[in-house]
Amino acid sequence: MESTMSDLELKDIQGLVVRGYGSLEAACYIPLQIQDGEAARHWLVTLADQITNADTRPTHTALNVAFTHAGLVDLGLDAETLASFPNEFTEGMTSERSRRVLGDHGENAPEKWVWGGPNTPPVQILLICFAVDEPTLETFSGSLSRGFSGVAQIGETLTTILLRDPQTGYSKEHFGFRDAISEPLIEGLGKSGPPATTVKAGEFILGYPNEYDLLTERPTVRVERDSQGLLPDDPSESGVRDLGRNGSYLVFRQLHQDVGRFWQFLDDATKDAVGNSDPEAQVRLAAKMVGRWPSGAPLVRAADQDNPELGQENDFGYHDTDPLGRRCPLGAHIRRTNPRDSLDPNLGPQKTLAINKRHRILRRGRPYGDPVSASMQIEDIMSADKSGDRGLHFICFNANIGRQFEFVQQTWINNPKFAGLYEDTDPLIGDRDPRGIMHANVFTEQAMPARRRVTDLPQYVFVRGGAYFFMPGIRALRYLGSLKALP
Ligand code: HEM
Repeated sequence: MESTMSDLELKDIQGLVVRGYGSLEAACYIPLQIQDGEAARHWLVTLADQITNADTRPTHTALNVAFTHAGLVDLGLDAETLASFPNEFTEGMTSERSRRVLGDHGENAPEKWVWGGPNTPPVQILLICFAVDEPTLETFSGSLSRGFSGVAQIGETLTTILLRDPQTGYSKEHFGFRDAISEPLIEGLGKSGPPATTVKAGEFILGYPNEYDLLTERPTVRVERDSQGLLPDDPSESGVRDLGRNGSYLVFRQLHQDVGRFWQFLDDATKDAVGNSDPEAQVRLAAKMVGRWPSGAPLVRAADQDNPELGQENDFGYHDTDPLGRRCPLGAHIRRTNPRDSLDPNLGPQKTLAINKRHRILRRGRPYGDPVSASMQIEDIMSADKSGDRGLHFICFNANIGRQFEFVQQTWINNPKFAGLYEDTDPLIGDRDPRGIMHANVFTEQAMPARRRVTDLPQYVFVRGGAYFFMPGIRALRYLGSLKALP
């Protein structure tokens, strides 16, 4: 079964799943708790009318909503339906299993989080608001708050900022590198691109065939529990309705970035024999760690120096051009998080690519906190005062949290035994203590005549909050609003 454009029920899919609303410059996330289930359900029905669906391209404001497992419980979803959600979602991001899988210990332990951890009230609903500019966002989120009924905000609104490079207009992250270049294209959405980056809709949106040509596991409801017939029939089983269709799982991680520590480490690691700093060498090492230059140019295409003309380049693999990692190191951030056609050289590029497509994620996060330099140019970032709280509100969508986000985090980012390496983890965000024992924290650059190794990488990205959410389709949202109080 092929999913074609007409197959995708865009009007029922929440917009953020298919687009990042790049033209809406302002965004915030409002964490909510349910105080009165009955009133909250009524409020949800009204909210459903305001939700931005994937069929529209908003130019003024956009609104999407997602729920944690605790939220679905307090909305009154019955135990049998709740049990049809996957374990990763049900247990949440702070369970013993998730902590182990994600490497959330030490400085990243959920006990230290500012939201989503065991020491802060549980987030049940997340409102995701976008607007064309900050004043519009303020008015928009203010009017939403005034309409709250049965729900109340807990904790701070999570604010965001777009870090545009003023020269090119492209978005960057706080360390100074261009971000949001490589995204999988959802098959059937109408945008064409290289087959290697085009992924079946079912990898991100529930209810459609995935890269196994199967429907991904999804939550279902007994027919008698949907007396108003709000939900579609489940295509593969009789007697149940599909609560998951057109929904997705949203992974949220608040990642604090210590920009000072990042650039200090690069300076220390590249000083010459008499202790002089070498800014060029710092940028080069940072680029090797990311796998792209600050402009975005990929190292497989521009191994020795930045080439802004290649800033948007995303049609490349590693198998033919760089099998040994001499251009883009095997452990670079982009090579770990998406090994493309080089995952297993023994399988050959085509098979590898097919396997790789089962572990893709759709990134939709935005940075937060003031930039260290408004220009976002590396030279200015290096010399600026870097104090302050800033980072990335990392958000990604996937249809199977365990097989996609958690797999990437555990098997690729935090695994010291990756692609023949044995002492490295992801140089940007990897666990600095992956075996719970003292670890060398190495970054290896494959090179001739001998590899180069940098040791004692410090931690400069810290988890500060997070949760797993279910972002339902809009019919499913109405269904949640129609639930009756449990006896
Ligand atoms: C503060 C934390 C992070 C920073 C600063 C960061 C930075 C970057 C940069 C600069 C790129 C290159 C731009 C691009 O290819 O689009 C990138 C790509 C990517 N990152 Fe991250 N990242 C962070 C966290 C994460 C996390 C937590 C994950 C997943 C668990 C992740 C997954 C990816 C993926 C999948 C790509 C695209 C790779 C490709 O397709 O070639 N990143 N990141």
